[in-house]
Amino acid sequence: MAKHKIAWLPGDGIGKDVLNAARVSLDALGLDAEYIHGDVGWEFWRKEGNPLPDRTIELLKRTDCCLFGAITSKPRDEAAMELAPELRDKGFVYFSPIVKLRQLFNLHTNMRPCRAFAGNPLNFRDDVDIVVFRENTEGLYSGVEFHPVPKDVMDAFVKHEPKSKRFASVPSDDLAVTVRLYTRKACRSIVTQSFEYAKKHNLKSVTVVEKPNVLRETGGLLVGEARKIAANYPGIELWETNIDAMCMWLVKNPQIYSVLCAGNMFGDIISDLAAQLVGGLGFASSANIGDDYALFEPTHGSAPKYVGMNKVNPMAALMSAKLMLEYLGEDTMAKTLEAAVARVIADGKVRTYDMGGSDKTTDVADEVARFCR
Ligand code: IPM
Ligand code: MG
Repeated sequence: MAKHKIAWLPGDGIGKDVLNAARVSLDALGLDAEYIHGDVGWEFWRKEGNPLPDRTIELLKRTDCCLFGAITSKPRDEAAMELAPELRDKGFVYFSPIVKLRQLFNLHTNMRPCRAFAGNPLNFRDDVDIVVFRENTEGLYSGVEFHPVPKDVMDAFVKHEPKSKRFASVPSDDLAVTVRLYTRKACRSIVTQSFEYAKKHNLKSVTVVEKPNVLRETGGLLVGEARKIAANYPGIELWETNIDAMCMWLVKNPQIYSVLCAGNMFGDIISDLAAQLVGGLGFASSANIGDDYALFEPTHGSAPKYVGMNKVNPMAALMSAKLMLEYLGEDTMAKTLEAAVARVIADGKVRTYDMGGSDKTTDVADEVARFCR
């Protein structure tokens, strides 16, 4: 029996290309694993009305962790139009499989390292080394949304919050509501993870990114918990920054930040910004970690225009595989893989189009794997 059981979910578009690239390195490293393929994504939405079939959820439950490729996400009505004709108007509603997986497996912590590799011509600056800790299961992603807004929901708003009165006369179909839900538990958890990471890596600050001057209740809860937790880490400063200002500071002075801690939506936004500082989404890896399961995925999407072209940069997926190796306790392999990625970037001999080269995804995969053997 193999030492590790890994659910293998390439998903849509270029997901297959980048996971194949990761597999070449994992094999070169000699990881003792069984890889079990799972169905997920657009194809299964169209054919079955479910982008995340139950059999895939069951498969994940039987594995140690999951490596995930990419997913195509579309708004509800656009998705409905692409359903197989026999499935239309049967009540199937599209949902994002990755968001569902994060919630289903309580993968509360999304860790997204954005480190500038030496010699990457796409670096915004060479001294950026940021890790985003994004709360991953609640906030604006909780899925509590209304359109139209039911009358009793509106009545309750008006009863408990006078500010909602100015919306009470809007016809229910002309009003949409998305609820931002924060629990104290999740706030404490994401802040604690951020500080523990800073402590482990000897970093001097954790920056909480919120907007508590406007989003007083949710933002206030997260910042309030951050202040309490920070008190337990005397050597680490807590910096508090509003999301809008953070976007500016990340362009102006990205090198002064190390750990960024945010709720779900703001974490989503700053992790794209931070990724671009170090070469773009082609370099951005992520770990979705829960108490007893974890899923690793490049932050990028399915890039439909590059499907089947063997063209995209696999570095993000390779670095996600590196995070997976760390989770599996294969620290030596993780270090070797990261060093191989760093070496290939620094050498500059094999590069995909985004880095100014003309090499293929598989060329980069082979080159990285060469330094993994
Ligand atoms: C990400 C992505 C997802 C998200 C999408 C694909 C639902 O943008 O992982 O950052 O919003 O979380
Ligand atoms: Mg995103």
